[in-house]
Amino acid sequence: MRTTVGIVGGGPAGLLLARLLHNAGIDCVVLESRDRAYVERRQRAGILEQGTVDVLRECGAADRLDREGLVHDGIELRWNRRAHRIDFPALTGGRRVWVYAQTEVVKDLIALQLKDGPPLHFEARALAVEGAEGDRPVVRYLHQGRERTLTCDWVVGCDGFHGVARAAVPEGARRTYERVYPYSWLGILADVPPSADELVYAHSPRGFALLSMRSPRVSRLYLQVPNGTDPADWPDERIWDELDARFAIDGDWKLERGPVTQKSVLPMRSFVTEPMRHGRLLLAGDAAHIVPPTGAKGLNLAASDVTVLARAFAHLKDTGSTELLDAYSDTCLRRIWRAEHFSYFMTTTLHTDPGQGDFDTRLQISQLDRIAASPHAAAELAENYAGLPVG
Ligand code: FAD
Ligand code: DHB
Repeated sequence: MRTTVGIVGGGPAGLLLARLLHNAGIDCVVLESRDRAYVERRQRAGILEQGTVDVLRECGAADRLDREGLVHDGIELRWNRRAHRIDFPALTGGRRVWVYAQTEVVKDLIALQLKDGPPLHFEARALAVEGAEGDRPVVRYLHQGRERTLTCDWVVGCDGFHGVARAAVPEGARRTYERVYPYSWLGILADVPPSADELVYAHSPRGFALLSMRSPRVSRLYLQVPNGTDPADWPDERIWDELDARFAIDGDWKLERGPVTQKSVLPMRSFVTEPMRHGRLLLAGDAAHIVPPTGAKGLNLAASDVTVLARAFAHLKDTGSTELLDAYSDTCLRRIWRAEHFSYFMTTTLHTDPGQGDFDTRLQISQLDRIAASPHAAAELAENYAGLPVG
């Protein structure tokens, strides 16, 4: 098989890139290792920045998002049994976020792709990207029990943190930066209307908790837990009791409980590989960088990477110039490092490190007090949360 842009991975980055390229008249093929049902059910992110919604609208993939997505104008922070609201539009000149699950973004993009192309092959597992330094890079992959090749002008690795594309960049040609956190999140989905209209991020002496949602009837909640936690050690009542204790404030508020339908533990990591291009191989999304989830940047960074990349391919098609492709890595890394810092800041301000002393806790409280007292400090949080401009 032969194509202009071979895309490895059919997660949000790969599917959105395929859509943008298709609309720009550039042919591409997506290879996805899993089957459709698996990709559509994988429970992950839930918050879309303004810029992500804009690009989904631009490429015609936002009809259901516009009908069913929940527009949020702020979040609540809780600490010391107090609550403080951050008002995004007021602090950012009108920017806001949407609650619309990654599963739904992926379903919408897959439906469009299967309706009018470009080709998307499920259960097509890339084994290796070869020849990135030459003119005709090749993806070797397994499909229907046979090894095949996809010959491309360019290959984009959108195959997530555990994919194979990053490995095609020789070790001497890349540098990685990494931080692993000494805690994880226990995440649940529950069939109960969310107990607050907006997301609640809680700092507490017992650790972090987050109240989010998937719809007006489904809550998504997270608890900080030690690394290595087995979800089986957390029966539903224990989870609700712990959430109750961590969200507690002075005043009127009640956490509604309901049937827990899904439970999983996710570890936390910051990771960046530089540069995001080697010859004719480009990396995008989790294949190039990971953030800890506090602040909901992962999916949004994947979307901004491929937005920049699609513009660069369109520029090449229109002008014959690779100047935007040459700038791709630097352009994206500026925004990525900002999001890395914000995610690190949100994570370390709100979680309790197992080795944390009273001094560290006082610093966290002082920072949260500052956000409540200063519109400048609150605006810094709001601008980063609602998303910085792309490009
Ligand atoms: P992925 O979504 O990982 O997609 C990569 C795709 O490539 C997958 O479909 C995979 O099956 C495929 N693939 C892998 N290897 C191969 C191969 N060899 N050949 C072909 N295909 C391959 N972000 C938030 O903002 N909030 C959250 O709450 C949140 N929760 C998360 C929970 C988990 C468990 C994980 C792993 C991530 C979470 N994230 C969250 C991050 C967010 O989901 C990711 O940043 C986002 O999915 C990145 O999209 P992507 O397309 O780059 O990568
Ligand atoms: C969600 C995840 C996040 O990491 C976050 O900061 C906010 C919401 C979510 O899954 O809904």
